[in-house]
Order: sequence, then structure tokens, then C-alpha cells
Amino acid sequence: MKALTAALTAAAILCAGPAFASEALAKKNLCVSCHAVDKKMMGPSFKEIAAKHKGDKGAEAKLINAINKGSKGVYGQIPMPPQPKAAADAAALSKWILSL
Ligand code: HEC
Repeated sequence: MKALTAALTAAAILCAGPAFASEALAKKNLCVSCHAVDKKMMGPSFKEIAAKHKGDKGAEAKLINAINKGSKGVYGQIPMPPQPKAAADAAALSKWILSL
């Protein structure tokens, strides 16, 4: 019984994992200095980004491109500078943002 409880707990932690992992990635890569999940800061909220690309099959690639190369003119006047340090995490970050 103990083993079963432990296994269930482990499964629950694994299921909750990706969201936490990606929020941690956004913190690690300092995205959070310009973005928040659900309020506009210097950049659009991650939920606004997800809503804008809803139903777009190419969205993940576009977001990866924006992270690597920067973005301007999509949400307003303020451009986003390229985030080369986040390159290794760009795919995970894009998936997470689109899941919001
Ligand atoms: C210096 C501030 C700043 C930082 C740091 C920053 N962003 Fe941005 N981001 C912006 C701004 C401003 C925009 C809106 C650009 C536009 O209008 O095209 C934006 C737009 C975006 C978009 C939308 C692209 C699109 O085509 O819809 C994504 C995705 C994004 N940022 C992800 C990230 C991630 C992930 C990080 C961290 C690795 C990050 N940003 C770091 C300011 C920033």
C-alpha cells in the first residue's frame, strides 16, 4: 500500500511537471522581466500571445523564431530583442506559452 501511494504521488508530480518546469524556464531566461502569464508588462502577457496564435498550426515555429530572433510590430511599438541565451529552451517555452 505504501508503495502504491508513493507511485501515485510520483505520477501526480510528473503530471504537474511541465507547467512548473516551463514557468521556471521563463524565470531562468529572464522572460519574466518583460512578460507575465496574464498581465501586460513591457511585452504582451503569455495568455495574450497564446490567444493571438490560437488555431495556427505554424504557431510553435513562429514563437521559437520570435524568441531566437526577436519580434516587432506584432503587439505594439515596443520591440522584443533576440534572446539567444534561451535558444535551448525556446521550443519548450513556445509549447508552454501556447498551452496557456
Ligand atoms: C526586454 C523585454 C523582453 C524580454 C526580456 C522578452 N520579451 Fe518577449 N516580447 C517583448 C515584447 C515588447 C514583445 C512584443 C513584440 C511585438 O510587438 O512584435 C514580445 C513578444 C514575445 C512573443 C510573441 C511573438 C509573436 O510573434 O507572437 C513571444 C512568444 C515572446 N515574446 C516570448 C518571450 C520569451 C520566451 C522570453 C524569454 C526567453 C522573452 N519573450 C523575453 C519583450 C520581451
